[in-house]
Amino acid sequence: MLRTLDLAVRFGGHRAVDGVSCHFRQGEVTAIVGPNGAGKTTLFNLISGQVRASAGRIELLGEDITRLSVAARARRGIGRGFQQTSLFPNLTVRENVRLAVQARQRKGGRMLRRADADRKVLAAADSVLGQVRLAPQQHRLASELSHCNQRKLDIAVLMALEPRVFMFDEPTAGMSADEAPGVLDLIDGLRRDRNRCVLLVEHKLDVIRALADRVVVLQDGRCVADGTPAMVMESAAVQAAYMGQELADG
Ligand SMILES: Nc1ncnc2c1ncn2[C@@H]1O[C@H](COP(=O)(O)OP(=O)(O)O)[C@@H](O)[C@H]1O
Ligand SMILES: [Mg+2]
Repeated sequence: MLRTLDLAVRFGGHRAVDGVSCHFRQGEVTAIVGPNGAGKTTLFNLISGQVRASAGRIELLGEDITRLSVAARARRGIGRGFQQTSLFPNLTVRENVRLAVQARQRKGGRMLRRADADRKVLAAADSVLGQVRLAPQQHRLASELSHCNQRKLDIAVLMALEPRVFMFDEPTAGMSADEAPGVLDLIDGLRRDRNRCVLLVEHKLDVIRALADRVVVLQDGRCVADGTPAMVMESAAVQAAYMGQELADG
């Protein structure tokens, strides 16, 4: 579905991402792990287009998207969660999802009679709200939701846009232990649609074990391991680079 080829970016003299070649398959959740400063967020920024590559390529379904804008990549199916601009704080939960469904339908170029179109938009919005279990809060303003429910709404908006690739950078950051599972369940549920591909930056080993089909380990901007969670966690390089410390903590 998505792959990077020798992808690199420098900030000044510093190689934040340094020749990363990896692929992300549909129907899979890939966890991207590594120490602080390893380049995980920068890799996400390169894929979604916030940062332009100094070298290398990014391909989505075989098409070169390396030079495309953020908006053009989003139209082709790159969906990144938890971006500051994705929610309208002064609209209700349902309105936020409805606008995303409308944006999606416009992109699809469907020409429906107004009443039919409105009915379909609302039905689709309500379906997504049900899936993320925010129906009870649908008439609240987005700004009134808890941090955790705002994250769920963000996922709902992303689902309504129907991207092919879902990207989440530390989705449970700032959440309490009882809030995190609700958000992780939603991410886990995304894999039910086999056409989707999920990229997840995540630190917690139990979350990686539960959610990830594959783990890519970054260190100093390089990919140092890539495999199933079990394979990667056994690897000596990974233990040394990163997991040893996490295993000790856990
Ligand atoms: N916009 C930027 N300008 C300069 N340096 C940056 C920028 N973004 C990230 N970096 C640097 O690139 C490296 C990787 O950062 P980052 O991708 O945020 O790491 P991670 O998400 O793995 O913790 C770090 O050394 C960071 O300071
Ligand atoms: Mg980061």
